[in-house]
Amino acid sequence: MSVVGCVAAGGSGERLGASGPKAFAVLAGRPMLEWSLDVLREVCDRVVVAVPAGYEEGADRVAGGTSRSSSVRNALAAAPEATVAVVHDAARPLLDAALARKCITSLEGFDGAIAAARVTDTVKEASADGSVVRSLDRESLWAVQTPQVFRADVLRQTLSADEEILAAATDDASLVERGGGAVRVVEAPGSNMKVTTQLDLRIAEAILTERC
Ligand code: CTP
Ligand code: MG
Repeated sequence: MSVVGCVAAGGSGERLGASGPKAFAVLAGRPMLEWSLDVLREVCDRVVVAVPAGYEEGADRVAGGTSRSSSVRNALAAAPEATVAVVHDAARPLLDAALARKCITSLEGFDGAIAAARVTDTVKEASADGSVVRSLDRESLWAVQTPQVFRADVLRQTLSADEEILAAATDDASLVERGGGAVRVVEAPGSNMKVTTQLDLRIAEAILTERC
């Protein structure tokens, strides 16, 4: 088994509004990307990072794509030896090794095993004008995160789809599901947050500062 981490770090981070790409925004004294890289290097045989244009210099960095999933595809393409792919967003710097390992071991018998959190809010479906169509049963709802671990052959096949299909996907598991793959959720700790806005950055900073 060859486990390769594929890090999606190729986004611009528009909603964060920093002066450069989000993955390189400073978080608790170092680029955000570095925090999850430490953990992935601990649990993977190798890690490939898809970065924005102009950041390709450095070992195991590849150019990101125009969409998140095309960035993942580029990272995976640089690791033909991979039998298991651990896909992770640089925007989730609080990744812990136990979660990544749990996703890897949970892959047994599945095509994908993905970190997810039980939904704590009540979720409703509404039409464009805001009128509620229905309330969904929270018991069976999960908010999906990364890491998302896949059999590498399945992910390679999945990510060979057309660019527009990749661009429409908000995660890789949905593409695997679309191809008939079996995916399971793995419950993540509450700390596995995503940094999208400046408020998230402050929260992540507080948690990391407490950890160190
Ligand atoms: N990502 C990527 N390649 C892209 C777009 C996004 O690798 N073309 C990565 C981001 O770097 C991030 C992850 O996918 O780690 C999740 O995306 P998101 O949180 O939306 O980050 P950004 O696209 O950078 O942020 P925004 O949408 O606010 O511009
Ligand atoms: Mg984005």
